[in-house]
Amino acid sequence: MTRQGDEYYRKAKEEGLRARSAYKLREIDDELDVFGERDTVVDLGAAPGGWLQVADERAGEVVGVDLQHIEPLEGVETLQGDVTEDDTIEAIMEVVGDVDVVVSDMAPDVTGEWTVDHARSVHLARNALDAAEKLLESGGDFVVKVFQGRDIDEFREEVEREFEYVQTVVPEASRDESSEIYLVGKNRLTAPVRRGDVVDVEIETEGDEGDGVAKIEEFVLFVEDVDVGDEVTVEVTEVRANYGFAKSL
Ligand SMILES: C[S@@+](CC[C@H](N)C(=O)[O-])C[C@H]1O[C@@H](n2cnc3c(N)ncnc32)[C@H](O)[C@@H]1O
Repeated sequence: MTRQGDEYYRKAKEEGLRARSAYKLREIDDELDVFGERDTVVDLGAAPGGWLQVADERAGEVVGVDLQHIEPLEGVETLQGDVTEDDTIEAIMEVVGDVDVVVSDMAPDVTGEWTVDHARSVHLARNALDAAEKLLESGGDFVVKVFQGRDIDEFREEVEREFEYVQTVVPEASRDESSEIYLVGKNRLTAPVRRGDVVDVEIETEGDEGDGVAKIEEFVLFVEDVDVGDEVTVEVTEVRANYGFAKSL
């Protein structure tokens, strides 16, 4: 372990934290404001429980799941299971209602073979994204660890499609370690359209700013330079958690 790693290890012990990775989650939350005090949080790959302690100190209901047994932690629900299996996600859904934040620090057993470790890490991260898509409320946030490598850009694009925006964080507490980074997806999108989609809509009303308002399955799309009653083909230019913008083609 490097000197810095050693330092975090000592600090974690002193503070009664189960893992020094707890500092990474604190840094991520300090930087990107992931946790709200009443949020429901699901932690994937939660053993031994450092992140659970941080989530418990900063959010509301907390549920952790891991392949390994997690020693009980007061105020936190824990499950043992494989996040890549549907049954595990269903078991989580049985314990929690609406989820505001999904975090994943899942990591494969490292082989030391860089491309293999990277591929396995991306596989776990994709499973975490699938779980987040099933669990998260509209507007919810997602934090996922992934080892750097050639598939990271493609994975980042997959996350970008599901959230308003995505930030990359390399916490100070990670810097001495491997090649891990964290992607943070902010504001889960549940809209039936995504940026770049081309759709036919009817302009139903006029919005406060003078834009036309169209609806796609109750999702509101503001369209510039159109009139009420127009039937137009539009390209979606921006999608937020609760509404979007489009331009007529
Ligand atoms: C770096 S540790 C997590 C540390 C944790 N965030 C903490 O602060 O204590 C990674 C965890 O991912 C778990 N893991 C790996 N693959 C998994 C899977 N398919 N399903 C559930 N957990 C998994 C491992 O068992 C391991 O406990």
